[in-house]
Amino acid sequence: MINLDHNASTPTLPQIWDQVRELQDELSYNPESQHEAGFRAKKILNKSRQAILDLVGTPDNYAIFTSGATEANGIALLSYKKNGYHIIAPATEHKSVLYYADTVCPVHQSGRPDLEFLKKTLMSTYAPAVFACMYANNETGIISDPEGNLAELCQITGTLLHVDASQCYGKDRTLPEFITQNADSIVLSGHKMKAFKGTGVLLFKPDLSSIMESPFLGGSQEYGIRPGTVNLPGIYSMGLAAKYITHHSFKDKIDIITSSLADLCQINGDGPRLPNTISLRFPQILSELLISKLSDSGFMVSGMSACDSGIATTSHVISAMYPNTGYDQHTIRVSLGAETSTDDVCRFTRAVRSVVKSAEAEGPLTTLEESRSGVALRS
Ligand SMILES: Cc1ncc(COP(=O)(O)O)c(C=O)c1O
Repeated sequence: MINLDHNASTPTLPQIWDQVRELQDELSYNPESQHEAGFRAKKILNKSRQAILDLVGTPDNYAIFTSGATEANGIALLSYKKNGYHIIAPATEHKSVLYYADTVCPVHQSGRPDLEFLKKTLMSTYAPAVFACMYANNETGIISDPEGNLAELCQITGTLLHVDASQCYGKDRTLPEFITQNADSIVLSGHKMKAFKGTGVLLFKPDLSSIMESPFLGGSQEYGIRPGTVNLPGIYSMGLAAKYITHHSFKDKIDIITSSLADLCQINGDGPRLPNTISLRFPQILSELLISKLSDSGFMVSGMSACDSGIATTSHVISAMYPNTGYDQHTIRVSLGAETSTDDVCRFTRAVRSVVKSAEAEGPLTTLEESRSGVALRS
């Protein structure tokens, strides 16, 4: 299978597997144990923490390891809520943020949040506020705040800024300084940056240490903010990933996709985006059918966030950008990885052409079930 679904998860780097195996004895101990093996485990934990802080460039921040970005977003946003903050989040946020929003900020068709709406909301909100805004969207790749206008507004109005940067490292160059300097909390997901699944980190400014707390009570691990024995092999894998992160150029390959399919589809969103990601809309065919046929032909792509595929049928991101258009039912996300070759993308575009052209010839099928049962119905 050719993996063009790297925003769902990235393959763990082979050298990370090797180094974790080499250190498997040390990684088996509990860093809180008060004996020699425990002290060695604690050193690994703290070195990994330092590697993450170095990667992001926020040496003074706290870094709390979690089971992923979902948990890290949850700890931060629940803590803000509990302390009386009003949470504002764009409609295109990942559900692990959006569920906590008191106010949902609309987005433009470009995919970027409506700055004027945010301004008005901040002026009419008496409670202290947090603006929770992802660095880049996992489905469209659109960068939320390329010029730093949202970050600047937060700074001017004394609004806290929470940034889910799960889709940055390994895909884009790095977080811009106006985020690393201004964001009060930042979230990363290990498995989106070539570390193990089930790993993540919450970074925050030291003055927030008194309000950050997990909804679960327990021990004093991770400064008491994330109780429970830490996942040391996973954390070590994240520390290694932070050191191995390199920048890749995806431009030529994305250009091949967009130019060879230009007559068949439109691109969702507009403006700066993650270099590895493109969201394509094919009016001739339902996304579930296209994804299934591409899977049969050996290509992995997706229609929405992998986290949502069990509960939602179409993308809340595309519906927020293009309300009442049905575009969400015709969209696929293509996300490349470092190992994606030019040959992979050429074969992919040929496969897409073939599936879409035969769908055009047959007439639109309304559902995947109809396609499977061989019944062609007009929508
Ligand atoms: C932007 C964004 N935030 C949060 C998450 C959740 O990450 P995790 O799987 O680490 O909980 C994802 C995963 O799709 C994501 O893309």
